Amino acid sequence: MNTGKRIGILTSGGDCAGLNAVVRAVTRCAIEVYGWEVLGINKATHGLMSRPPQAIQLTTQQVDPYLTRGGTFLGTTTKGDPFAFPMTDGSLMDRSQEIIEGYYQLGLDALIGIGGDGSLAILRKLAQQGGINLVGIPKTIDNDVGITERSIGFDTAVNIATEAIDRLHFTAASHSRVMIVEVMGRDAGHIALNAGIAGGANIILIPEIAYKIENICQHIKQRQQEGYDYSIAVVSEAVRTESGALVEKGHFTDCRLGGIGQYLSERISAMSDAETRVTVLGHTQRGGISSPLDRILASAFGVAAVDLIAQGQFDRMVTWQERSVKSVPIAEAIKDYRAVEPNGTLANTARGLGICLGDLPTGRGAAASAAELRDRLVTADLSSGLSSGLSSGLSSGLSVDVSADVSADMSIGEHAEEKLFTTSAGAL
Ligand code: F6P
Repeated sequence: MNTGKRIGILTSGGDCAGLNAVVRAVTRCAIEVYGWEVLGINKATHGLMSRPPQAIQLTTQQVDPYLTRGGTFLGTTTKGDPFAFPMTDGSLMDRSQEIIEGYYQLGLDALIGIGGDGSLAILRKLAQQGGINLVGIPKTIDNDVGITERSIGFDTAVNIATEAIDRLHFTAASHSRVMIVEVMGRDAGHIALNAGIAGGANIILIPEIAYKIENICQHIKQRQQEGYDYSIAVVSEAVRTESGALVEKGHFTDCRLGGIGQYLSERISAMSDAETRVTVLGHTQRGGISSPLDRILASAFGVAAVDLIAQGQFDRMVTWQERSVKSVPIAEAIKDYRAVEPNGTLANTARGLGICLGDLPTGRGAAASAAELRDRLVTADLSSGLSSGLSSGLSSGLSVDVSADVSADMSIGEHAEEKLFTTSAGAL
């Protein structure tokens, strides 16, 4: 069956693992199931702005080897809002119409845009202006796109950060040091909280929870008294200094976060007898081979996006909700920002494990207050009428709305099995 449809696909914003797996899934489904043509657009909207528009015809043979590979073979950009595009003479120009014309010059019937909330907002504006049939797919290691419980790239980033923490335990213990691991995530602490719990960190600092340096130093001291002469602290890049300042790298026009790990290292060593070292994971969290979970999510999102086009449903974004792929209007999908819930399941899990989140004194002497805090939070959930969703979600292993920071809707061991399967089978 060849219906003659021709669709385009582009990746926009920062890269992450799993993008190529989405392009592969879209290409396979469009060609194998629907008999359509697929054009891969180079460097996001820049490819549509170029003349002639820069795109390549994709085949299944071409995309199959990209299943596991990080990055995006189509290329991407984080620069150049087409509605205020920076020109070489320093002026800003509205180049949106050129992008729309590029779409029509390629003879496209629909466009799949893979991006975070910023990219999807721009693509939607272009689609509204130019009558482009757009379907969105959420990606970001920050996992902060409003409505979806998961975005492409997050799981791989958590795996990479967890592995780094696993490795740091040994060197930290050998030298009796406090190792500070700075992770990405922008304003959301999902990577830090998830990787910190998974990696057995002792201190986790996230932008959503204000800390006191005294609480951190006291936790380190308490651990020393209990016989642990080393500690691992995971800190999210947008955690602020004690005076509330963001720590940025260099002097750029855009905000490039980085350096809070070094700040904390200096403060902790000044206020305690601990020897500190800092590891900044940076862009390693976006690279490498994508995790099985990201490949599965990418495959499910890719197929669902093509199905939406086949059904003539546009201006929608695919989402992962309650164990399945759904779709919602793009405007609704990106309207809410998804930060870590400070009283959510994972923050409370961390507290329950005795991990210091910086907000309260911890250690054996403070155990009662941590338990009291959890009791208070559970009571708050009950009184807000959300408890049944929480308890049924937990008993079935589902993530639920009240715990916006629960990273995975799966049972214990399920992910490990996927890993084993993928390793032994070589590929999905
Ligand atoms: O939004 C994804 C992200 O990796 C953030 O976690 C990080 O702050 C930022 O992008 C880094 O951007 P860039 O690649 O421009 O340095």
